[in-house]
Amino acid sequence: MSNLRRRKFDVLVIGAGGGGLRAALQLARVEANVAVVSKVFPTRSHTVAAQGGINAALANALPDNWHWHMYDTVKGSDYLGDQDAIEYMCRAASHLVIELEHAGVPFSRQDNGKIYQRPFGGQSQNFGGEQAARTCAAADRTGHAILHTLYQQNIQARTHFFDEYFAIDLISDDDGNVLGAVALEIATGEPIIIEAKCTLLATGGAAQIFRTNTNARINTGDGMGMVLRAGIPLQDMEFFQFHPTGIAGKGMLITEGARGEGGYLVNKEGERFMERYAPNARDLASRDVVSRAIATEVREGRGCGPQGDYVLLKVDHLGEGVVAKKLPGIRELARTFLHIDPVSTPIPVFPTAHYTMGGIPTNRDGQVVAPFSHGPEEAIPGLYAAGECACVSVHGANRLGGNSLLDIVVFGRAAANHIADHLRQSRYHLPLNEESVERALSRLARWNQRGDGEPVVQLRRELQQTMERYCGVFRTEEVLAKGVEQVLALEQRLQNAVLTDHSKVFNTARIEALELENMMEVAIATVCSALARKESRGAHSRIDFPGRDDEQWLKHTLFFKQERRLDYKPVRTKPLTVDTFPPKPRVY
Ligand code: FUM
Repeated sequence: MSNLRRRKFDVLVIGAGGGGLRAALQLARVEANVAVVSKVFPTRSHTVAAQGGINAALANALPDNWHWHMYDTVKGSDYLGDQDAIEYMCRAASHLVIELEHAGVPFSRQDNGKIYQRPFGGQSQNFGGEQAARTCAAADRTGHAILHTLYQQNIQARTHFFDEYFAIDLISDDDGNVLGAVALEIATGEPIIIEAKCTLLATGGAAQIFRTNTNARINTGDGMGMVLRAGIPLQDMEFFQFHPTGIAGKGMLITEGARGEGGYLVNKEGERFMERYAPNARDLASRDVVSRAIATEVREGRGCGPQGDYVLLKVDHLGEGVVAKKLPGIRELARTFLHIDPVSTPIPVFPTAHYTMGGIPTNRDGQVVAPFSHGPEEAIPGLYAAGECACVSVHGANRLGGNSLLDIVVFGRAAANHIADHLRQSRYHLPLNEESVERALSRLARWNQRGDGEPVVQLRRELQQTMERYCGVFRTEEVLAKGVEQVLALEQRLQNAVLTDHSKVFNTARIEALELENMMEVAIATVCSALARKESRGAHSRIDFPGRDDEQWLKHTLFFKQERRLDYKPVRTKPLTVDTFPPKPRVY
């Protein structure tokens, strides 16, 4: 180990999406020495793919108010969201969106020059009244605009980037202090120890565990795998969002903004079926509701196409001008992947895995907060998480569209502020723990061996198919139990897997193997948590337990890798300054 490359920073940020870059920028501005490790070039991080926009009650298009936004978010979460965190996020939203505007994000504009805002699902005025228009958009490429701006700002602020480095594992000492991470330079295969006084995980979601998904291939739950191996549980992993409108059979995202601009769904009879499922909000009901409606239409024989396995999203009535100006990205996607032009031809869509509502448990300051083993909950010293890999929890059982870009900027900044305070009191690095480094390196050594066995790529495919089949939109005890059995069998097979049968092996194959280990951990957490929760809430829909059960289940799940143990903790139902929104039936 002595001849390994080593670098020391005040802060190590793992992941260069919006959460990581917003945090890094805040820290660089207070002159902390910040390193960002990213397994891809930063502007290829998955934030770049966010389409529809970022929520803030700016009231540019229609009357609005942060408290209405809070109400919609609590209701959207099916009351599992922590109301103090939701209040904090919704209150901060307007300020942070204006800050992004001033940083250079090229938002679309209304005729009066103000930031363009479109209606999105689950939004209302006046606590459940008329549709609101809260989603601030840069056409349908909002994430692209935000990520590029944050990257440029970080370059100017002199953030240090380790581009195309893969974080293998956290390093920590015997007292539980997190001391940084061991990473691998992908091009050379050379490991590096990066020591830091604080480490922030911003590694994004894990929808790659499902076959059909909207996510980039990089979204393999790497930070979640790291914390599980460190003995920290994952929270609420049973709540996986299926976006209603992925391109059927392929998964690419067709933004909810298409429905926000007036698009709508039809079945094979040409019926606007959402009127039956959500009489008021119709196509702009929240995502879990619309996804279940589409899946039901298909199951009951009203799907379109030769196999009857999708519904159609119509935007052809909007006119070429609207599509070209407001939805150019989805037009391009439809042309590229379906060879159709949505200006004249409806788009075949079906629900597709999109967003990990659960993740690494944190408090509002981004500190990772967890019970170690069977002890009480406490902040893990030196460890933070923000964005999709974290569960703060503002999304609860179902996230509202437009709240994910908001989450990353709000909690990226909050974590950075807390870290900045911590740095003022911590002038020195704690001594490096050699054993912990060796443990991280042993993960790598396992994939240096060659031999006979199943190829990693085959297991990845089977894992994705298994999760899609046994842990999808609708769930039952029997199907989930089968899912647990199958995923655990795959985990066993992974012990004997090899990179390839051939001698020539590139580093990228090693990265895929390390990613698959992370995906496996996340899949086990997801399916075990789903089997245990015997109710339907938000995106977790149990045919055998169709109702929400607040008496038994208004609580967060914690899944521990060790012993595959599940535990539960209360939802924080008390907001910071306003009254609680008590659970009530959720209708749209
Ligand atoms: O539909 C969309 O544009 C996705 C937005 C989101 O997930 O927040």
